[in-house]
Amino acid sequence: MRKTLIAANWKMYKTPAESSAFLTSFFPLVRNNTSTEIVLCPPMTSLTSLVDAARDKSVFIGSQTMHWLNEGAYTGETSPTMLTAIGVTHVLIGHSERRQYFNETDTTVNLKLKSALAHRIVPIVCVGEHLNEREANLTADVLNLQVAVALEGIDPATLAPLVIAYEPVWAIGTGRTATPEIAEEAHKIIRAQIAQVAGSDLAASTRILYGGSVKPDNAAALCGLEDIDGALVGGASLDPTSFSQIICNASPK
Ligand code: PGA
Repeated sequence: MRKTLIAANWKMYKTPAESSAFLTSFFPLVRNNTSTEIVLCPPMTSLTSLVDAARDKSVFIGSQTMHWLNEGAYTGETSPTMLTAIGVTHVLIGHSERRQYFNETDTTVNLKLKSALAHRIVPIVCVGEHLNEREANLTADVLNLQVAVALEGIDPATLAPLVIAYEPVWAIGTGRTATPEIAEEAHKIIRAQIAQVAGSDLAASTRILYGGSVKPDNAAALCGLEDIDGALVGGASLDPTSFSQIICNASPK
């Protein structure tokens, strides 16, 4: 019932030429995939060319961030209407690097989520605890607050497209993956909180991805778990072979 979703977060890597070269190698490797929703989130400067190249190829193109307003005097920002105008279908919201370096908060995550839903862009809302919070036994509190504020004031009937990515900050780019047990426990906490805030039907249908040092050799163990519905992949998504292996290993058999 929950279709596996594997998303690539390229962060600030790849020029348009490098992004196109990735696709040329990548398409043949996932030609036979039908069971998994594949999303590539390149830098803004590669969005247009990738949307064009991915047309009719069952690969979706997402943005790594967006503003919540349609237009205005916000130097450097990109709006949801600009993204939909070029064919972008997904957006990452509140990635921990956006929270850490660009002052995004649970409140701006909430504004962006409302905006993405209104513009029919699939929102991938990122949550996750820092190492000191885990060590202080605060993981559940942190996740519950992040999910509650993200969903605040949103009619559950409009939340069907919602995707959550659980990304423990201590596992991002560190090579230190959460064990399947740790990840599954956190996913259960998040699902229970969605049920609390927006009802059990939505909780049952919401896809929750794991992110943080996902690699070809740990993707199957993580994505095979009951509450893990896919992955958000940073470093290992930059290479077409390793990203396609993750998709292959994580896809339902
Ligand atoms: P990583 O990044 O796979 O390189 O740990 C994941 C992410 O930041 O989304």
